[in-house]
Amino acid sequence: MPAPSGLAASTTSAPEGASRSIRAAFDLSGKVAVVTGGAGLLGVQHAEAIAEAGGLVVLADIDADAARWHSKGVVTRTGGVVDAVELDVTRRASAEAALARVLDLHGRVDILVNNAASNPKVEDGGVTATRVETFEMQRWARDIEVGLTGAFVCSQVFGGHMAEGQGGAILNIASDLGIIAPDQRIYRREGLDESEQPVKPVTYSVVKGGLVMLTKYLATYWARAGVRVNALSPGGVYNEQPPDFVDKLTNLIPLGRMAERHEYKAAVVFLCSDAASYMTGSNLIIDGGRTCW
Ligand SMILES: NC(=O)c1ccc[n+]([C@@H]2O[C@H](COP(=O)([O-])OP(=O)(O)OC[C@H]3O[C@@H](n4cnc5c(N)ncnc54)[C@H](O)[C@@H]3O)[C@@H](O)[C@H]2O)c1
Repeated sequence: MPAPSGLAASTTSAPEGASRSIRAAFDLSGKVAVVTGGAGLLGVQHAEAIAEAGGLVVLADIDADAARWHSKGVVTRTGGVVDAVELDVTRRASAEAALARVLDLHGRVDILVNNAASNPKVEDGGVTATRVETFEMQRWARDIEVGLTGAFVCSQVFGGHMAEGQGGAILNIASDLGIIAPDQRIYRREGLDESEQPVKPVTYSVVKGGLVMLTKYLATYWARAGVRVNALSPGGVYNEQPPDFVDKLTNLIPLGRMAERHEYKAAVVFLCSDAASYMTGSNLIIDGGRTCW
């Protein structure tokens, strides 16, 4: 049967690495990756994963000193080639400057991990600051700007470059809370009125839900240009949270625990490599089973 008109010429083919061996499919040697929010808790883990798979990785963060400091740690732990650049994901000029610097130093970009977020916390800004009725517009704008607009800006700049050239992979870091609404019961504090109970900020859900749809949109938009776009939705990671909070959260998770910070590394390599060559527009949920319930 002939292909629908206009589609045949731009059909993509499977990359060579994907058919050679499993080891070759996961190998990121020769690839250059940019991880936004690369100086954060998970950004460093994503960078380590890519470096361990042989890729050259650039930690891109608004906190350039922290990115440089962490890049040295990733080198020490992986023996890989790791670099750092300053990047404010909310500013297109900053993204363009970071792209120019990466191209200047390393000649190409194959992978973008949109990981930066302002990560609004339940405890930020006083007890009632998270309530919908009193949520400040300035805070709404800032959270959306970093977490969602920032991913779009970096996709425009880095993804646009990949689409013009050799193709590549974009990975958007969403969350289990991009799939389900937060269970606000786990954030409750004793002795407070209902109207004063802190809640997981609404912006977190909106940003993460938005990232899932940005993923699908860009996956279809750039499919024929050879840029795969997927999302990874992690569940909560142990990071010295109060024990009573951990108890309440783990009660909602079939595996009965939060994630260790290294438990997303294999998925990052999978989604960024030829091992996922036939995967685009997907959202890989790794949450200990939480969203099954
Ligand atoms: N930690 C978790 O439990 C968890 C769970 C699910 C999803 N996530 C998601 O994973 C990602 C990483 O989370 P994390 O816990 O490592 O966060 P983190 O707060 O430790 O790191 C975020 C990083 O983003 C950087 N950043 C902030 N604004 C920026 C900007 N304008 N431009 C560039 N960089 C900027 C910060 O400097 C920081 O290094 C986030 O998208 C988060 O929502 C985290």
